[in-house]
Amino acid sequence: MTGDGRRLGDSRRRRTIGTPRSPAEKPVLQAIGLSRTYGRGETLVRAVDGIDLDVSAGQTLAVTGPSGCGKSTLLQLLGGLDRPTRGQVRLGGRRIDDLGERSLARLRRRATGFVFQDFQLMDELTAAENVELPALLAGASPRTARARATALLDRVGLDGRGRHLPSELSGGQRQRVAVARALVNEPLVVLADEPTGNLDSAATRDILRLFDELRAAGQTLVVVTHDERVAATADRVVSLRDGSLVDDTRLDGATAPLGALLSWEG
Ligand SMILES: Nc1ncnc2c1ncn2[C@@H]1O[C@H](COP(=O)(O)OP(=O)(O)OP(=O)(O)O)[C@@H](O)[C@H]1O
Ligand SMILES: [Mg+2]
Repeated sequence: MTGDGRRLGDSRRRRTIGTPRSPAEKPVLQAIGLSRTYGRGETLVRAVDGIDLDVSAGQTLAVTGPSGCGKSTLLQLLGGLDRPTRGQVRLGGRRIDDLGERSLARLRRRATGFVFQDFQLMDELTAAENVELPALLAGASPRTARARATALLDRVGLDGRGRHLPSELSGGQRQRVAVARALVNEPLVVLADEPTGNLDSAATRDILRLFDELRAAGQTLVVVTHDERVAATADRVVSLRDGSLVDDTRLDGATAPLGALLSWEG
C-alpha cells in the first residue's frame, strides 16, 4: 500500500503490452525499436532488444525486472549516456541518438538529470557546490547558480546543509543533494537508477516523498527500481525481461483511456 492508498495489484491496475497512446498525451521521451547489444558471435548479449516506449510529459514511470534484464542499459540510452546499436531515442520530439559528442554533452547538461544508486557527488565540493556545478557548466552566472542551489536544497529539505561536504551527510541526505543537482537545469526528464538501493527505510521514505512532490509538480521521471514501494509511487510501471518489455501497467486508470488499451491488446 502506498501513502495515498494505492496498492500494487489494485483493481484499477490495467495490464497491457506495448505503449497506449492518446492524442492528449504528448511523449516527451520516446524509444523506437531501441536495441543495444554487447559483444558478438557466441558472446553476444542483447541487453536491450527492440524496445518501443513513449513517456508522456509529467508521467512518472518505474522500470522493473530481474537483475541483468537491461534496466540500466535502457536508462542510459534514454538519457544519452550510451548509444543504441539500433533504433532511436527522441527527447522533446528531437532525435538524440545520432547527435555528435558535443551536442550530446550539452543535451545531458540541459535536458536530462541523472540520479544514481551511489549518488556520484563530487567529494571535495560542498552540497551547494555539487548542485551549482551543472548550472555553471550550462552557462548560468555564479549568482544564479547559487540562488538555484539554495532554493533546491531548501526544496529537498536540506536548507542549512549547503556548506557540508558529502562525507558529512547521511546517505539519504546525499541522495537528496543528488536529486537537487539533477533538477538544477530544469530538465525535461529526471532519470534515476536504483535511487534508493543504498538507503535504509527512513531515507527511502524521504526520497519517495520527494519523488511524489516532483510528480505533483509535473516533473517527468523515469525510475529504475527493484523496490515495490518505489514502483508503487509511479503512474506507470513497465517490466523488462531479457531486454524486452513484457508488461506495461498504468497505476492510475484515469491516465490511460480504456479504448486505447483495448486496441493495443486486441
Ligand atoms: N559494458 C558491458 N559489456 C558487456 N555486457 C554488458 C555491459 N553492460 C551490461 N551488460 C550486460 O547487459 C545485460 C543488461 O545489463 P544491465 O546493467 O542493463 O541490467 P540491469 O537490469 O540494470 O541489472 P541490475 O538490476 O543488476 O542493475 C546484462 O546481461 C549485462 O551483463
Ligand atoms: Mg542496473
